[in-house]
Amino acid sequence: MHQLINHPLITHKLSVLRDKATSSSVFRNAMNELTELMVFEITRDIKLKPVKIETPVGICSTSELAEKLVFVPVLRAGMGMLESFLRLVPYASVGHIGLYRDHETLEPHTYYSNLPENIAGRQVVVLDPMLATGGSAVAAIKIIKQKGAKHIKLACIVAAPEGIEHLENEHPDVRIYIASIDDKLNDIGYIVPGLGDAGDRYFGT
Ligand code: PRP
Ligand code: URA
Repeated sequence: MHQLINHPLITHKLSVLRDKATSSSVFRNAMNELTELMVFEITRDIKLKPVKIETPVGICSTSELAEKLVFVPVLRAGMGMLESFLRLVPYASVGHIGLYRDHETLEPHTYYSNLPENIAGRQVVVLDPMLATGGSAVAAIKIIKQKGAKHIKLACIVAAPEGIEHLENEHPDVRIYIASIDDKLNDIGYIVPGLGDAGDRYFGT
């Protein structure tokens, strides 16, 4: 199941990310801001619990967050989305999964995994701005499921149709949130028109 998050501000910020003339510092800002706009929709079903608070004028029956989410950025490019999630949802735990794609085979290789111990009953949001072949997201989610997590979402900025199909086949229970579904992959596995190498552009490497 995937959901396109459509908003004029998201479209504008994505255009900044796509422009090859955009510098790393402007790219970082645009990715942070675009991600914040996505957080609003991705957390729409987060659980609340009733609380009573005292305003300067009286007692108010209201609600506050009842669940502690887990955010898992896929290194490196997923780190570009983490700060925005934590700014809006600071009461959360963070795990990390390190994956890189082999340039020849496009197969993902895991080089790091560090997840909170108690993620089985918690909602996990995987962060990775690019869903190309889908290999990296499929592998990351497999590692997370091995820890017992059952409620998993993927937050991604640009997706290729091939990646969406791959992920939906392998993990049909995972809801994918996407800012743009692009045309296709090129013959070296890049999303077209895409935005290039997200990690290199974010970190200026
Ligand atoms: C990029 C991106 C995704 C992956 C997507 O990572 O951040 O993790 O490619 O491609 P896929 O869907 O075909 O697996 P990359 O391997 O370039 O590593 P990096 O983030 O460290 O640059
Ligand atoms: N990873 C990226 O960073 N960009 C692409 O277009 C595909 C994979």
